[in-house]
Amino acid sequence: MRIAMIGSGYVGLVSGACFADFGHNVTCVDKDSAKIARLCAGEMPIYEPGLDGLVAANVRAGRLRFTADLAAGMADAEAVFIAVGTPSRRGDGHADLSHVYAAAREIAANLAPGRFTVVVTKSTVPVGTGDEVERIIRETNPQAEVAVASNPEFLREGAAISDFKRPDRILIGVEDSRARQILEEIYRPLYLNQAPIMVTNRRTAELTKYAANAFLATKITFINEMADLCEKVGANVQDVARGIGLDNRIGPKFLNAGPGYGGSCFPKDTLALIKTAQDHDAPTRIVETVAAVNDTRKRAMGRKVIQAMGGDARGRTVAVLGLTFKPNTDDMRDSPAIAIIQTLQDAGARIRAYDPQGMEQARAVLAGVDYADDPYAALEGADAMVLVTEWDAFRALDLARVKRLLARPVVVDLRNVYRPDEMARHGLSYSGVGR
Ligand SMILES: NC(=O)c1ccc[n+]([C@@H]2O[C@H](COP(=O)([O-])OP(=O)(O)OC[C@H]3O[C@@H](n4cnc5c(N)ncnc54)[C@H](O)[C@@H]3O)[C@@H](O)[C@H]2O)c1
Repeated sequence: MRIAMIGSGYVGLVSGACFADFGHNVTCVDKDSAKIARLCAGEMPIYEPGLDGLVAANVRAGRLRFTADLAAGMADAEAVFIAVGTPSRRGDGHADLSHVYAAAREIAANLAPGRFTVVVTKSTVPVGTGDEVERIIRETNPQAEVAVASNPEFLREGAAISDFKRPDRILIGVEDSRARQILEEIYRPLYLNQAPIMVTNRRTAELTKYAANAFLATKITFINEMADLCEKVGANVQDVARGIGLDNRIGPKFLNAGPGYGGSCFPKDTLALIKTAQDHDAPTRIVETVAAVNDTRKRAMGRKVIQAMGGDARGRTVAVLGLTFKPNTDDMRDSPAIAIIQTLQDAGARIRAYDPQGMEQARAVLAGVDYADDPYAALEGADAMVLVTEWDAFRALDLARVKRLLARPVVVDLRNVYRPDEMARHGLSYSGVGR
């Protein structure tokens, strides 16, 4: 199949490269010409494990191209995917659909007359957006032979390629049989791998993506509240999580207590779902509470660090290990590290941070932070060490060296990766989350 991918960010670039790897002919389009120039030069604009090799192999094989020219990019495409950003709209938390609608208008103006094309929304968009995309396209180009489908993406940053190639399910929301055929053909290689393909109407597909993210955010928030209760009553949240997770009806995943969810999806998607539900007079009160609880948690984690330092952070140096919202990505969008660091800075602390991939993006969102070249350099002379993101590189730190480097032996582990007994053995004053 000939595919155009409009938007070459975390989702568009990974999806485009994987489709090319399935054997399709893919052109990735982005209006950010600097990003396209880097891609054309063989450089990755984002960090995602395995992506550079996958892109290079498919460019070499002639199946993957990049352009900033949307008209050229979709010239002979049978399917045009929209994978542009849908951030929170400033002020009210609704999804900002301006990029989606702008892409729809541009696509419409370039649809070839007399040839059927399916336009597929891969971006996460509120229920009903497909209707508006279709209206825009028909208004802009009444002659176009086109159908609009929804194909929400469920990949996780850090494991994006394996998620895309071995998904739990593929969801296609479609009202038109030709569009359905094209999408089934595009995903046929996965069908042969027995990945479940689920076909629904367009609105159901759109809503399912939000329901999935809201449910996962709820699971995380639930265990985080259990962690707070565990601390009060002397229970261990990791054992509670295992104790409930072994129940098949609950399942063990997404039950790791921590500093609150962040990232480019859960915060904005829970907010957008709340707004959509309110607009339809069917408020999602559980999700409203989840978002509110999670929001206050991040600064509370900053206060937890101050408490571990004896209640006063003024003039102290805090070494922060890990900045990205999760390991194996460089994505800093809505990372809990931001609120935690700002809380510490508000209390007068100096921050020295290290992250294996996130420091470039962090520089753009955090002011007044010193960056170290490696975890040990961050710890030198610091009054506390705080682990915010559980990169593998932090799991096996030399604890004797940690103890030697820190001016005060305070360790706050917001991901529960260390063993309290080992920390105590090395003379470190240790606190985790919920145990
Ligand atoms: N990042 C994830 O893990 C993830 C997972 C599932 C779904 N999603 C959803 O996928 C969508 C994209 O997310 P992302 O993280 O890839 O965003 P991103 O910001 O990394 O990428 C979006 C890209 O679209 C480009 N763009 C915007 N308007 C354009 C236009 N009119 N024409 C061409 N290019 C345009 C931008 O320049 C940018 O490079 C969002 O709706 C997001 O919610 C993201």
